[in-house]
Amino acid sequence: MEKVIIKDLYRKTSDYIDKDVEVSGWVRTLRDSKAFGFIEVNDGSFFKNLQVVFTDSLSNFEEVKKITISSTIIVKGKIVKTENAKQEFEMHANSVEIFNLSDSSYPLQKKRHSFEFLRTVAHLRPRTNTFSAVFRIRSIAAFAIHEYFQNNGYVYVNTPIITCADCEGSAEMFKLTTLDLDKPLPTKDGKTDFSQDIFGKKAFITGSGQLHGETFAAAFGKIYTFGPTLRSEDSNTKTHANEFWMIEPEISFCDLEQLMDIEEDFLKYIVKEVLEKCPEELAFCDQFVEKGLIDKLHRLINSNFVRIDHKEAIDLLKKADRKWEFTPEYGGDLAKEHEKYITEYYNGPVFVKNWPKDIKSYYMKVNPDGKTVAAVDLEVPGAGEIMGGSQREENYDKLVSRMKDMGIDTDQLYWYLELRKYGSNIHSGFGLGFERLLMYITGMENIRDVIPYPRTPNNCEF
Ligand code: 4AD
Ligand code: MG
Repeated sequence: MEKVIIKDLYRKTSDYIDKDVEVSGWVRTLRDSKAFGFIEVNDGSFFKNLQVVFTDSLSNFEEVKKITISSTIIVKGKIVKTENAKQEFEMHANSVEIFNLSDSSYPLQKKRHSFEFLRTVAHLRPRTNTFSAVFRIRSIAAFAIHEYFQNNGYVYVNTPIITCADCEGSAEMFKLTTLDLDKPLPTKDGKTDFSQDIFGKKAFITGSGQLHGETFAAAFGKIYTFGPTLRSEDSNTKTHANEFWMIEPEISFCDLEQLMDIEEDFLKYIVKEVLEKCPEELAFCDQFVEKGLIDKLHRLINSNFVRIDHKEAIDLLKKADRKWEFTPEYGGDLAKEHEKYITEYYNGPVFVKNWPKDIKSYYMKVNPDGKTVAAVDLEVPGAGEIMGGSQREENYDKLVSRMKDMGIDTDQLYWYLELRKYGSNIHSGFGLGFERLLMYITGMENIRDVIPYPRTPNNCEF
């Protein structure tokens, strides 16, 4: 008898009608009456379940009736077309073999659970509809990202996880050491002596692959990274995690305007792929997570993203007829409430560009005004800033002087500076926070619910 996956039964239904097949999976629900019953079984291959009908003709009918939720079963039977039912077909079981009868203490019995509760059973939550949808979308989106770059001539680079290079601020990097923290630490001149540590100096876990990415962009023209990123910031918000995944493309011979064109094209591609490949998952999210989600995604594909200067954004906020918790400032960052207002005002993604230089990173190109940098953040409703990027300073002397002004160790980063000596060019890049993208695509409101095992302040369970 042919072993099949439930996805094929849905996608190629006509091939299977009136055929006998075998399916292995987990019981999602079971309803029974005197002489027959229904089992919803899911094998993980597809968002939807297979409905299995069984009758008292089964030799183990009494046992089958008592199957608990999440038990593993192997069912054999005929696929039969149904009329006027929720699903187009069902299986009429000839045999139901119980491989493992799940303990009745299984915490995810059939009822709606809060996302907070589900975080406490993160090892089981992938079996729920919501997380089945979210994590399949995550997988499809990751593949679409690779596909976009590979189709467009980018080289995939694996930048180091262990690093001494300070890109986004060393204060936000986790330190990495093999020194025995239970013993007094070796010291020199009153400070910890890291020359005795495994790398002979103070080392960190990466908070960005950008600097290494730039070295490869100076060889391959266009590159991208896609990997875990760690930041030690103590931010307990719905959009910050201490471990997240970031995609960082870097493009040679590309200025800020061209960078925004790429960001827009890239984001639309991912959304299109998810719309095409995850219709069941998105329909579920649209119904239960964010009403109007699918319309929102279609609107994004068909829109031209707004591009405004940081100054215009502040003008807009200052003109707004409302009270702010954080007063919008021309020299300041955008607070969550500001991002929300701006994206709602334009009803879609907004590029905010040309930021005050004092609140941005040292490697960004200072504009001719001397006050702003050629940086751009893409803001979307809900997730806020999903992409942060900039044109890089390509002039050696200017970069050195910016680094000195901002207290960045130029000796340590001599190799990064050398890119400005050997074949410098106008180049730009951005970082996309993968989880923030997923929040936007699925409508989930908390970053803890779009990453399998969230790491956030005071939380490193599982
Ligand atoms: O804006 P960020 O800090 O930019 C960089 O790291 C640059 N090196 C990128 C580049 O130009 N190559 O981070 C980029 C994106 C943010 O826009 C946000 O989406 C995400 O990474 N991000 C976080 N996501 C989750 N939790 C956090 N703590 C995040 N910090 C940044
Ligand atoms: Mg940023």
